[in-house]
Parts: sequence; C-alpha cells; structure tokens
Amino acid sequence: MNILLIGSTGTIGKEIYNTLKDKHTVYGAHRNSDSYPIDITKPDSITRLFEKLPKLDAVINASGTAVWKPLSDLTTEDYHTGIHSKLMGQVHLVHIAKDYLNDNGSITLTTGILAEHYEPNAVALSLVNGALHSFVNAASHELDRGIRLNVVAPGAIAGDFPKDQKFAGYFPVQINEVIKIYEYILTSTLTGQTLKVY
Ligand SMILES: NC(=O)c1ccc[n+]([C@@H]2O[C@H](COP(=O)([O-])OP(=O)(O)OC[C@H]3O[C@@H](n4cnc5c(N)ncnc54)[C@H](OP(=O)(O)O)[C@@H]3O)[C@@H](O)[C@H]2O)c1
Repeated sequence: MNILLIGSTGTIGKEIYNTLKDKHTVYGAHRNSDSYPIDITKPDSITRLFEKLPKLDAVINASGTAVWKPLSDLTTEDYHTGIHSKLMGQVHLVHIAKDYLNDNGSITLTTGILAEHYEPNAVALSLVNGALHSFVNAASHELDRGIRLNVVAPGAIAGDFPKDQKFAGYFPVQINEVIKIYEYILTSTLTGQTLKVY
C-alpha cells in the first residue's frame, strides 16, 4: 500500500511509521519534514503534499493539538487553537484526502480518551475529540468510491504518561496495542467507527 502518515515523528506517529515502513510504502509527513512537509491547519499545505505524492491507498493522521487549561482559564482564543488544529485540521484533511485516494482507500484520524472521560485541564481537548467522533460517524456515509473513514481514540500512552497513574480514570495504554488498531483498520472493511484503546 501507499500510505501517507501525518505526524510521523510524534509519540504515536513514529511507532506507526516503524511498524508499517517495511510492509508498505509510507510517506512520513509533518510540519518540519524536509521531504514531506505538511501543516494540517492549512488546507493549501495539505493539497500541496497530495499533489506531490502518487495515488494513495491510505492516509493516517496522528497530529493536532489543543490547549490544556482549567475551564475557568480557557479563553475563546484557547478553544480556537484546538478547533483550528486538531478538529478542523483533520476535517480539512478528510475533504482533501478523499479526492486523492484510490478506490476503497482508508482515512484514519486520531482523537483520544478525553472524548468521553474527564481529566482536569483537558476540557478543550474533550471538546474537539467529541466533535471528531460525531464528524466521522456522519461524514463516513457521504464518502464515495468505497473510501472508508475511521478514528482511533487512544488512552494516555504509557511512557508519555506514568504507567502506574490513572489518566481520565484509566491506566495508560501500551503503544503497541494502539498501533495494532491503526494497522488493523488498513485492511478491514470498517467505516464510520471510533476505535477506543483504553
Ligand atoms: N501521546 C498520548 O498519550 C496521546 C494519547 C491520546 C491521544 N493523543 C493524540 O494523538 C495525537 C498525536 O499525539 P502525540 O503525542 O503522538 O503527538 P506529538 O508527540 O506531539 O507529535 C506530533 C506530531 O505531529 C506533527 N505535527 C504537529 N502539529 C502538526 C500540524 N499542524 N500539521 C502536521 N503535523 C503536525 C509533529 O511534527 P512537527 O512539529 O514537525 O509538525 C509530530 O510529528 C494528538 O492529537 C494527541 O492529542 C495522544
């Protein structure tokens, strides 16, 4: 498969890259990449990279941020950071990727446990994660040519977070358990699904 992986140097992305690179042709992209630069907050930047690549069988995104603060400190601007990056960045990606994928291609987004479990200082992340789950559920019905759209919602990754300390009520998850799900989606028939790993 030809796979575009966005966020390929991150905690999650680099493990996806290392797992898939010997089995597929993987284009590892991120903002500071020399070979495959992309900024998901900028639709022009997304289109520019797709124009440069051959036709793809799958796109995986493991990038996007939001602001960590308690509710009482969150400003409109803080909310907009997450909406602009993690939410609309991934929404733009779907709009553009669908025209560059081969028939039956796969798009996989990333959210997280905070969509449905509370953690202090994470309200702005919960907002965008929840919105993305609703988006994937609905938008998947309107993709043609057999293109599939799913989202992986990992718990906190052990290593990034202390493995013996609960995050959002759950212990952190092993990165390999999370990567298995991204890999499984590639050859599955799933669409419109939120795959929770926690
Ligand atoms: N780590 C966790 O425990 C965890 C758990 C659940 C969910 N998540 C979610 O999973 C996603 C990835 O998390 P992570 O911890 O792996 O992130 P990370 O370690 O901070 O890495 C982020 C990756 O994305 C790239 N990136 C950042 N902003 C970008 C943009 N606007 N456009 C394109 N690439 C961009 C970064 O490279 P450049 O800086 O070069 O762009 C890097 O490759 C996030 O949405 C996060 O909320 C993480």
